[in-house]
Amino acid sequence: MKIVTIIGARPQIIKAAALSRTIRNKFATQIKEIIVHTGQHYDANMSQVFIDELGIPQPDYNLNIGSGSHGVQTAGMITGIEEILLKEKPDYLVLYGDTNSTLAGAIAASKIHVPIVHIEAGLRSFNKSMPEEINRIMADHASTLLFSPTLTGFNNLIKEGFNRDNQRPYSADHPGIFHCGDVMYDNSLYFETIARDKSDVLQRLVLEGKAFYLATVHRDNNTDQPKRLNAIFESFQEITQSTQIPLVLPLHPRTSKLLKKNLEPALYQQINQNKLIRLIPPVSFLDMIMLEKNCQLLFTDSGGVQKEAYFFGKPAIILRSETEWKEIVEVGCGRIVNTDRDKIMSACKHFQQVGKTLEFPIIFGDGKAAEFIAKTMMG
Ligand code: UD1
Ligand code: UDP
Repeated sequence: MKIVTIIGARPQIIKAAALSRTIRNKFATQIKEIIVHTGQHYDANMSQVFIDELGIPQPDYNLNIGSGSHGVQTAGMITGIEEILLKEKPDYLVLYGDTNSTLAGAIAASKIHVPIVHIEAGLRSFNKSMPEEINRIMADHASTLLFSPTLTGFNNLIKEGFNRDNQRPYSADHPGIFHCGDVMYDNSLYFETIARDKSDVLQRLVLEGKAFYLATVHRDNNTDQPKRLNAIFESFQEITQSTQIPLVLPLHPRTSKLLKKNLEPALYQQINQNKLIRLIPPVSFLDMIMLEKNCQLLFTDSGGVQKEAYFFGKPAIILRSETEWKEIVEVGCGRIVNTDRDKIMSACKHFQQVGKTLEFPIIFGDGKAAEFIAKTMMG
C-alpha cells in the first residue's frame, strides 16, 4: 500500500510522527509513506526542528507555499498536491487536523478520486468564524476513513449523518468512522522519557525546581483583535505581579509579529520590562514537553497544548470562547475563560488551590491510536 501524507503546520508535523514511526517500526514491508510538506510553516523552529527531533523522514516533496491569505495559500497547495497525487497514484491521502494544508489536501484528492484518511476527524467548535472549523468540516465530508480521537468527535460525525455501522468496502460515499484515541497522546507517551533525557530547557531558563506558568497564544482572533490581545496580556501582567510566579510564553511567529502593533504602547512596555514574563522563541517539542510537565498550570488558545496539558496532568485555562476538547472542561481539568480578565484571574486562583488534587481520567485512548489507524488502512 502506498500513502501520501500531508504536513504543513507545526502541529501536523508533530501528529504525523506517530503514524510515520508506527509504519517504519511495524509495517515497513506493507506500507510505503510519501511525505509532502506544503511549507505552510517554514521557520526552522516551526518546522525542521520537529522533523529532526521526532525522527520523521525528510519530506519527499516540499511545496514551499509559505504565508499568504487563505485563498492564495490554499490555492497554491491544491495545485501542488494535485500534481503529486497524479504522479504518485497513492492508495490513500492522509490528512491531519484542520489547517489550510488539510483543506487543500481534501480538495485536491477528492476531485481526482484519491481516497482520504482524516486523522483527528469529527472535532467541532460550532464556531464557523474559525477558519479551522470550515477546514475540518470540509475535510471530514470528503473523507473515506475518519479517525476521531474522542467520543465527542465520533458522536459529532454521527450527528452530521455519518453511519457508525458502515462496512467495507469504504468510499467517500460510504465512509468508515472510528473512535481510536489520539495520535498526540501516542507521541506524548513515547517522547516523555526522551524529553527528560535530552531537553535542557529548564536549566536554560533557570526554572529547575521552581514554580512557573506556561502560556501559548496564536489563535487569529486573539492575535488580530487588539481588544482581546490586550485583555490577555493585561491578565498575564496582573497575575505575574500578584503571584510573583514567572510565566513562560514561547511566542508563535504570528503573535510576535502582532504584539507591538496590537498592544497598547504602555502595556507593551510593561510586558517587556516585566522580568517575570519570559517571552521566548518557539521551543522544540522535547522542550515543550518539559515545560508542560513541570509548570503549575497553562494558559493557552492552542488545541494541541490543551490536550498535552491534560496528558501531563496540568490544568488548562483556555483563552477561547469554546473548545473542541470539551471533555477536558467537563472533568474539571480545564476552564474556558475567553479573554475575560475576571474569569482568567479566578480560574488561575481556582487551579492554584485545587491543581494537585485534580484527577485526569482516560479520555484520549491507550497510546496506540497510530497502530489502529495503520491496521484499519490495510483492511
Ligand atoms: C495555522 C493554522 C492553525 C494552527 C496553527 C498552528 C490555518 C488556517 N491555521 O495558523 O489552525 O493552529 O497553524 O501553529 O491553517 N509565520 C512565520 N513563520 C512560519 C509560519 C508562520 O513567520 O514558519 C507567520 C507569518 O506571518 C504568517 C503567520 O505566521 O502570516 C500565520 O501563519 P499561518 O500558517 O497562515 O497561520 P497560523 O496562525 O500559523
Ligand atoms: N509546540 C511546540 N513548541 C512551542 C509551542 C507548541 O513544540 O513553542 C507544540 C505543542 O507541544 C503541540 C503543538 O505544538 O504539540 C501545538 O501546536 P500549535 O499550538 O501551534 O497549534 P494547534 O494545536 O492549536 O493547532
